[in-house]
Amino acid sequence: MRTRVLLTSPAHRQRNIALAAALIRRGELVAFPTETVYGLGANALDARAVKKIFWAKGRPSDNPLIVHLFDVEQLPSLVRSIPDTFWKLAHVFVPGPLTFVLPRAECIPDVVTAGLPSVGVRFPHHPIARALLKAARVPIAAPSANLSGKPSPTRAEHVIEDLDGRIAAVLAAGRCEVGLESTVLDLTVRPPVILRPGAVTRFQIERVLGVKVLQEQTSRKRPRSPGMKYKHYAPAARVVFIEGKMTLVIKEMVRVARMLHEQGFVVGLMCAEKWKERFASYKVFSLGNDVEDAARRLFDGFRALDAKGVDVILCHGYAEEGMGMALMNRLRKAASQWVRV
Ligand code: TXA
Ligand code: MG
Repeated sequence: MRTRVLLTSPAHRQRNIALAAALIRRGELVAFPTETVYGLGANALDARAVKKIFWAKGRPSDNPLIVHLFDVEQLPSLVRSIPDTFWKLAHVFVPGPLTFVLPRAECIPDVVTAGLPSVGVRFPHHPIARALLKAARVPIAAPSANLSGKPSPTRAEHVIEDLDGRIAAVLAAGRCEVGLESTVLDLTVRPPVILRPGAVTRFQIERVLGVKVLQEQTSRKRPRSPGMKYKHYAPAARVVFIEGKMTLVIKEMVRVARMLHEQGFVVGLMCAEKWKERFASYKVFSLGNDVEDAARRLFDGFRALDAKGVDVILCHGYAEEGMGMALMNRLRKAASQWVRV
């Protein structure tokens, strides 16, 4: 099976959305863009279709999937109860990059939730994702559309790189705006717990709810969000992450890069645009001008440097506030080693 690349430019859009929706309804897998990363979709109510996702990605079956919905009217049939906290947050963040963990209803197949009593639901705001959800008229279960263990795909090319021949089609619509996966918020417990940081921050959630929310400390042993125990987001190269005061960090990156180069390693670096020329003699990937740029480009950078055959990727940190929380979470997970200066 060849994977079909379905364009979404105005001339193709209507026909290809209809085609993708028909494939989903027929039990096939279709990757599609969301504002966070590309998702790998299947009809969430069709257990056989959902099983193909685990096969295509090589994903462990104990890791539950997020169910994507077009609007909140679909929710009552898919969950056992809806807490007030959901409605308060939905008012502000639906549609958007926030996943709600809620008590699941019986109609959701076990394979979607990995047997958990809860289900993660999200209402993406990307117009192509919304058009697909509307046309398919079924909830769509979708993890990120990468091979398990690889960085999440932020461009259609990444999906093809990983899944060509394993899925029916990909709706191609350029680069994802956020670039990191959604915030996952568990609303089955009080106070709510952030299981995975994302573009919707703890501060924003607390402001809307008027209560403190907790941030799950991600241990690989017994995480509440099963996906967080796996080593994730990692390129093939070793990632060495250097944090501390910026001027010292850059000095250390220069020193370590030179040392590794002298030992015969092919060195790659990821850094903010303004530091780029300091590393001109190595393979450098610019993370852009601010933390939003860096979030958008991080996974692309991992893949681009891997493609250049680097053995090691050196990267600096970002301030842990706003989008920086999610960015640093992904960097720490990708890193084989981190150094404080
Ligand atoms: O932005 C995103 O969330 C993207 C796009 C495609 O929507 N999806 C995504 O899916 O990142 P995935 O499967 O790569 O990550 C889903 C995360 C995993 O860490 C999983 O364990 C957690 O959400 N999760 C899903 N359902 C859950 C549940 N019922 N309870 C706790 N964690 C859950
Ligand atoms: Mg994923």
